[in-house]
Amino acid sequence: MTVFGASDVDEAARRGILAVGARDIVTPLARERARELGVEIVLATPGTAAAVAGDRRYPSSSVPQPGRGAGSPGTPSSATSAAVRPPAAGRPMPSPAGAAASRAAVGHRAEVAPPPVRPPSGALYRRGAPLPPEVRPAGTGPGRPGGPGHRAGGRVVVVGAGNVGTIIGMRLADADVFDEVVLVDVDEGRAAGIALDLTHTAALSGFATRVRGAGTVEAAGAADYVVITAGKARQPGMSRSDLISSNAAIVGDVAARVADTSPRAVVVVVTNPLDEMTQHAWRASGFPPERVLGMAGVLDTARFRALASLGGTTRADRIEGWALGSHGEEMVIPLSQASADGRPLGPEVDAVVDRARGSGAEVVGLLRTGSAFLAPGTSAARMVLAMAADSGEVMPAAVLADGSYGIRDVYVGLPVRLGRGGVREIVELDLRPDELAALRAAADRIRERVGALAVPG
Ligand code: LAC
Repeated sequence: MTVFGASDVDEAARRGILAVGARDIVTPLARERARELGVEIVLATPGTAAAVAGDRRYPSSSVPQPGRGAGSPGTPSSATSAAVRPPAAGRPMPSPAGAAASRAAVGHRAEVAPPPVRPPSGALYRRGAPLPPEVRPAGTGPGRPGGPGHRAGGRVVVVGAGNVGTIIGMRLADADVFDEVVLVDVDEGRAAGIALDLTHTAALSGFATRVRGAGTVEAAGAADYVVITAGKARQPGMSRSDLISSNAAIVGDVAARVADTSPRAVVVVVTNPLDEMTQHAWRASGFPPERVLGMAGVLDTARFRALASLGGTTRADRIEGWALGSHGEEMVIPLSQASADGRPLGPEVDAVVDRARGSGAEVVGLLRTGSAFLAPGTSAARMVLAMAADSGEVMPAAVLADGSYGIRDVYVGLPVRLGRGGVREIVELDLRPDELAALRAAADRIRERVGALAVPG
């Protein structure tokens, strides 16, 4: 894998073309520079003229290490960034664990880890940029996510235009891969106002995605992906579970409408209490379980990685880890799978785990009204972008357990491989017995709470 930075784009400017390999990374700044200079980023296959054109490449270890966070495919292409940002875009979140997981999933115990799945960088998701062959499924037509139209296309509907929905809409619009993003809210004026405000950023952020507001799921139209954020947010002193009955009514209604309006959509649930609401939405939709998943593990893992980086010298995007189990008290962060720059984390990691588990409440306490929205919204957008690119990335998500980890028939946070159609497979990590026991206990607790939830029909 090679990392292409802005200086590579500068050098390629006289040729007007920068050839990259399918597994290479193009930094966000390089992507911006290419747009400024009109340099086309093309996928070089071995033996082509582009591949032997002799572009200077440098290994990833020589990428400057700025102090600011790395982008994601959903991160706005910042006009304010002066530094070369490293290529976290499109990386599988926990790559060593993901690689180990791949081995476990296929039943091999190879001594040498296969290279992690590396979807293209944000640059390659952009309109007009080539999609590497491994993310371009055969037989998909133009306008379908991951299709050969060089962009995902299609429509994403975000239900709930609160703070989280707004951030999701912004991240998705900025990625410039969909035809349309529709924000839906019972307060139609709010949805329309945020959609218009976001539309006004199109030239600043460089996207052509249409952004629209609607008052109902039906008015939004059929979607490829639907993100459900609708519901009440936590207030200080409330646990996520305190929201269960009020939000169940909202989520159940939305899921049933989505099933009617978008019968082939993949649904990502964000509403709390997350695990229970995801299972509830699955039941209410009647969808197969691979098309209903919950966003929690991506957020909790991101928090763990960010917090672990605060006390040391390792950047957050070089910390690996997983947050599994429930999005709450029974969150399981298996330290057997955690590392910083490939090395085990120090003794302070226990405090980091505790703080990650309590991060939602910590933000609620500081904000005083409402709950976190930047990291939750970014996490949900990250999942949608990974699916739309048919990336095969492995991420933690609330999914219906299929017997993996000895858990079955309950929604719980597990590592999953994401594809265009939702969950491709649940991936088994090699957990220690105590970690496995904690994961099963989390599933048992979620099952109890779901059982207590009266579900019509
Ligand atoms: C949090 C809420 C959204 O974790 O669950 O911030």
